[in-house]
Amino acid sequence: TSDHLRHLDSMAALPSGAGNISHLNAVILGEALASEEHDLVFPSADFSRQAHVSSPEKYLEMYRRSIEDPAGFWSDIAAEFYWKEKWGKQVYSENLDVRKGSIKIEWFKGGTTNICYNALDRNIEAGNGGKVALYWEGNELGQDGSLSYSELLEKVCQLANYLKYIGVRKGDAIVIYLPMLMELPIAMLACARIGAVHSVVFAGFSAESLAQRIVDCKPKAVVTCNAVRRGSKVINLKDIVDAALVESAKNGVSVDVCLTYENQSAMNRETTKWQEGRDIWWQDAVPKHPTSCAVEWVDAEDPLFLLYTSGSTGKPKGVLHTTGGYMIYTATTFKYAFDFKPSDIYWCTADCGWITGHSYVTYGPLLNGASVVVFEGAPNYPDPGRCWDIVDKYKVTIFYTAPTLYVTRYSRKSLRVLGSVGEPINPSAWRWFFNVVGDSRCPISDTWWQTETGGFMITPLPGGWPQKPGSATFPFFGVQPVIVDEKGTEIEGECSGYLCVKSSWPGAFRTLYGDQERYETTYFKPFPGYYFSGDGCSRDNDGYHWLTGRVDDVINVSGHRIGTAEVESALVSHHQCAEAAVVGVEHEVKGQGIYAFVTLVEGVPYSEELRKSLVLSVRNQIGAFAAPDKIHWAPGLPKTRSGKIMRRILRKIASRQLDELGDTSTLADPSVVDQLIALSDC
Ligand code: WTA
Repeated sequence: TSDHLRHLDSMAALPSGAGNISHLNAVILGEALASEEHDLVFPSADFSRQAHVSSPEKYLEMYRRSIEDPAGFWSDIAAEFYWKEKWGKQVYSENLDVRKGSIKIEWFKGGTTNICYNALDRNIEAGNGGKVALYWEGNELGQDGSLSYSELLEKVCQLANYLKYIGVRKGDAIVIYLPMLMELPIAMLACARIGAVHSVVFAGFSAESLAQRIVDCKPKAVVTCNAVRRGSKVINLKDIVDAALVESAKNGVSVDVCLTYENQSAMNRETTKWQEGRDIWWQDAVPKHPTSCAVEWVDAEDPLFLLYTSGSTGKPKGVLHTTGGYMIYTATTFKYAFDFKPSDIYWCTADCGWITGHSYVTYGPLLNGASVVVFEGAPNYPDPGRCWDIVDKYKVTIFYTAPTLYVTRYSRKSLRVLGSVGEPINPSAWRWFFNVVGDSRCPISDTWWQTETGGFMITPLPGGWPQKPGSATFPFFGVQPVIVDEKGTEIEGECSGYLCVKSSWPGAFRTLYGDQERYETTYFKPFPGYYFSGDGCSRDNDGYHWLTGRVDDVINVSGHRIGTAEVESALVSHHQCAEAAVVGVEHEVKGQGIYAFVTLVEGVPYSEELRKSLVLSVRNQIGAFAAPDKIHWAPGLPKTRSGKIMRRILRKIASRQLDELGDTSTLADPSVVDQLIALSDC
């Protein structure tokens, strides 16, 4: 098939005991060729020849070192960045075992640096000041702009100076509630420059959700804009912020400054509601400040940002990332997983309101001196071909997206590497992406990772080894994924179970903001000694990893992570709803859809109007993206005698797998199941 694997036969046996390396034996030794079930897709010899990681041996050599000598491996990479002061003797220290005390992860402690300096100033000093850093494509056709590295730095410095002027200091939190304008990465970088901690809230979240986050992190200022066009709609963001600020004040947190960008293409300032004293127009205040701003050198372990994410229970958790390790990790994963070269034009369709936009719109690409496309609009507006028009317009070479993105039309010539994230990509979708979009020419990096991991964990390195459609393949450098059984015992060879990670990596989150206990309970107590991802995974005979989805009550809707508990609590807050249980179901377009079983208060009749008002309740409390796709009226919910809802049964009913309901005899009232089935089509 390819000359790529021919020389592999000569590979010597691999060392044992070096983490997971032995799992790679099969593919490295060429035995993977024997597996016919999942046809292997080989990188072209031309691609491999120019790739950073050109062969399995090269990968293995680097991977082996990253596991056997993490300190040496990561310090060599870190030395390519600017540090005001070098880190201490101990490159990292960690405890991932709850039995041995508090969980702790530290990388490059004692080193001082600044991620904004490394992303901008460092690239400018290397002679790339004139290179485009950001291309901006607006919602409407013909609306666009760009900023070179030098121009971006000036904008960042002006905002940084403004923030200092209003009293923002190192360690203060700033909430950013902006759509995909260039001002969003500008605001993130400005915070980083002065050591402030940003907390970006996706601009699709409701006032209620925004308020919850403001109350939790008590920001010095909120940065927003007056309105945004999304597709054919205009969304008045400032109204949402106003409502959120009223709500947070009721909870004892008042914010002094609301810096508002006037987004003229959506709404002008005359029609924007205003609170004198608190609200400030960005365009009036920021440009008055100098275009250079001294860098605040921070410790590698000083916090860089908080990003709230959904868990299986309770309120959203503030995932905390620190500076040094995150910087090195996002830069390195970006470079290798996309085989990035300075001539590439890179487009990631994610919003900066999610982790993908943090690590792979803003930090990872800019640290590498990339030219990044930032797109404000919706992928299907004004028509489903919009994405491909953008790829053509900017000659995008690396295109990173979620498998659920609305895709039609045909291959684009400029593309070189494709990336996928957010959910398992099924083999037929993979082939479609590969054959049609990538013209059978572009490797696909199916990147598995999480808000918590900061960067890619399991991912192909394009050109490095053959792919199997639907598999995220092998671990990134420094990552030791393990699959454990119910009891937390590592299982080897071909197996499936819970995906955990052994030992730390630089991009790992360090805690949940203000809640170390929840951090340990959620992620480190389920399987002592390991970080538990919440995902299921299987590994085949050749050592390839196959993600099988969440094993907890978290669902992924079009790449948006949603806790079923949050949707349930929004439904139950409706005065006519007595009880609700939410499960994820397969959805053709969104990957997963939200399916809600709702029990009404005694005597309240079912009605279409009520259905709408229940959905509205979720839109108001979380955001439109979390609106249930289906409300299933439930006279009662299947519960055990101790009152626990049997979600397993609800999932089967929701996905119409009625012959797989399993044992229902342990239910307090087994007849509930028949009633639910009878109401399926209402
Ligand atoms: C899922 C997004 C399969 C997974 C970066 C994980 C994936 C959750 C993949 C994290 C992938 C992400 N294949 N599943 N390539 N990438 N996931 O925190 O269930 O928004 O736990 O981070 O998305 O979602 P989050």
